[in-house]
Amino acid sequence: SGPGVAQLVASRVLDVPDFPKPGIVFKDLMPLFSDGDVFRQVIDEIIKHHGADSFDVVAGVEARGFILAAAVAYATGKGVVPIRKAGKLPRAVFSCSYALEYGEATLEVHQDAFIAGQRVLVLDDVLATGGTAGAALDLVEQAGGTISGFTVPLELSFLNGRDRLTPRTVHAMLTV
Ligand code: PRP
Repeated sequence: SGPGVAQLVASRVLDVPDFPKPGIVFKDLMPLFSDGDVFRQVIDEIIKHHGADSFDVVAGVEARGFILAAAVAYATGKGVVPIRKAGKLPRAVFSCSYALEYGEATLEVHQDAFIAGQRVLVLDDVLATGGTAGAALDLVEQAGGTISGFTVPLELSFLNGRDRLTPRTVHAMLTV
């Protein structure tokens, strides 16, 4: 990504100490989404990096990935698919549990979310340990999709999430 958008992310991330648990510094990207010009630059950067022809559908990881995914999908005329926390999707799902920096979680996707072979761009806001992303990418493939790319505005490199996702590649606008 260009230095422009990295700078933009850097200037908008808020560190929130001891959220959601003591000792965790939560990265709040809401200021990146709440400013119209900035949000548009973030969405445009995602589309420019991958190219709108490289994916057929966009998957967003609960919760902040939904915001990015819906905007990218709309701007490129594609559909959007939610990858959700356990118990939220109403029909038959595939499930994947993973260890989190602060606990454990399960993600789910509808079993019929994708047409076989559909190229899926997966979006979330932050890559930390990579547990969430790993589960999300596994679920897309389990549901018959092909991963065309994975983007986050912010990557926390000290948690080595990128290594955990190898050989899949990660596009981060800013790595700290
Ligand atoms: C945050 C963030 C990513 C995930 C990254 O979500 O939005 O989805 O953690 O962490 P990891 O790389 O260590 O898995 P959170 O668990 O806070 O859930 P939420 O989006 O529903 O608030």
